[in-house]
Amino acid sequence: MTDSIKLSRSGPLRGEVTPPPDKSISHRALIFASIASGRSIIRNLLRADDPLRTLGAVRALGIEVRDSGDAVEVYGEGLHGLKEPEDVIDCGNSGTTMRMLAGLLSGQPFFSVLTGDDSLRRRPMNRVIEPLGMMGATLYARAEGTLAPLAVKGGGLEGIDYRSPVASAQVKSAVILAALYASGETVLREPGKSRDHTERMLPAMGASVRVEGLNVRVEGGGELRPLEVTIPGDFSSAAFFMAAAAVVEGSEIMIRNVGINPTRTGLLGVMRRMGADVEVLNERDVSGEPVGDILCRYTGRLAAAEISPEEVPAMIDEFPVLCVLACRAEGTTTVRGAAELRVKESDRIAAMAAELRRMGAEVTEHPDGVEISGPVDLSGALLDAHDDHRVAMALSVAALAAEGETTVRGVSAVDISFPGFYERMLELTKRTMRAGPGGSADVRCGGKDRP
Ligand code: S3P
Repeated sequence: MTDSIKLSRSGPLRGEVTPPPDKSISHRALIFASIASGRSIIRNLLRADDPLRTLGAVRALGIEVRDSGDAVEVYGEGLHGLKEPEDVIDCGNSGTTMRMLAGLLSGQPFFSVLTGDDSLRRRPMNRVIEPLGMMGATLYARAEGTLAPLAVKGGGLEGIDYRSPVASAQVKSAVILAALYASGETVLREPGKSRDHTERMLPAMGASVRVEGLNVRVEGGGELRPLEVTIPGDFSSAAFFMAAAAVVEGSEIMIRNVGINPTRTGLLGVMRRMGADVEVLNERDVSGEPVGDILCRYTGRLAAAEISPEEVPAMIDEFPVLCVLACRAEGTTTVRGAAELRVKESDRIAAMAAELRRMGAEVTEHPDGVEISGPVDLSGALLDAHDDHRVAMALSVAALAAEGETTVRGVSAVDISFPGFYERMLELTKRTMRAGPGGSADVRCGGKDRP
């Protein structure tokens, strides 16, 4: 693999930064707009690999999408206006694209096939195939109906009362989308509260979607009004800056325009428990989502935290960077009830345990979590991103706090959710990035060669 980056210990992070637009909301805006009646306007759409897969899929289903740079216009054709795609739809690395489309396509009276990259073709799809099949759609998949490619022939759906075994917003959103096409009422029951962007957006467009605690009730039929939405910054991307400021001595940064939906911000509470200084300022509402600015100041040594299973859904994507914080915290940090991490873009428990150990960390793996004891003085090492954007970024944050030089291989994965991650991180450390031979980049953040 040629796409590697070299990083060394960073001087303090200072200044302001804006994270990229929210990935989850970007997927949803494109999909919901495609089945609304008329022209939707989406501002601040994330142009990263994952949502661009969704954009390509929507176009393959016959929807006109125009990107003027400032805004993306989606010419929705109504609930029943999608067309049979002429070819297989490639969802790339994006689980959200594949699972939400499985729900949408289950409502369509035509045939379609969804596939993805090596990682996505290893991830469980039975979690959407089962409820969608119960509603009346016909879905076929490899490995006895568990793995993509998926073939979907939809239509003729009936509402169901479904208890999902996992707290998953992708499963929930797939069932809600199919429910829009079903006769009668669909009830989706979750074991824990997963992110609720779908339940915020669809009722605002006129859909009959009601939330009752952990349950969502959907009435099929009706019409969706077009969207006019401005997408906030992604908390899950901001989390890498928050963690970097907490582990690099002397840091003080302001992260602007971050989505602070409580179903996403579990890491804020955990970081505060660990003794980090993370303060939310200028709270406001943007297109139905809470947004704020986050001021982060280095406080010195962190304390270990215990993360309970109930806390996991609201910080599921922040686990890789939490592991980095845990290495720098006094005591043993424990995470349990997080078996979902094993079926993300990589097995994030195994990936973070293996790579942080190379830096000297003390990590015990469990089937559903980890224990990490600290504080450990991390040392630079040769690391691998496991084809996972969040693992790449978390390891890069660890490198900023490590003694000596770290090479992270496979960093092009950051383009899945955060193109420009290294440039923005290095701006905060007042460093510049030099492209090296063979597509690698050499980044010096070390103390001595600071200008
Ligand atoms: C997402 C839901 C989560 C999350 C993923 C994005 C979404 O996955 O990990 O990055 O946009 O709905 P699960 O639904 O599998 O928990």
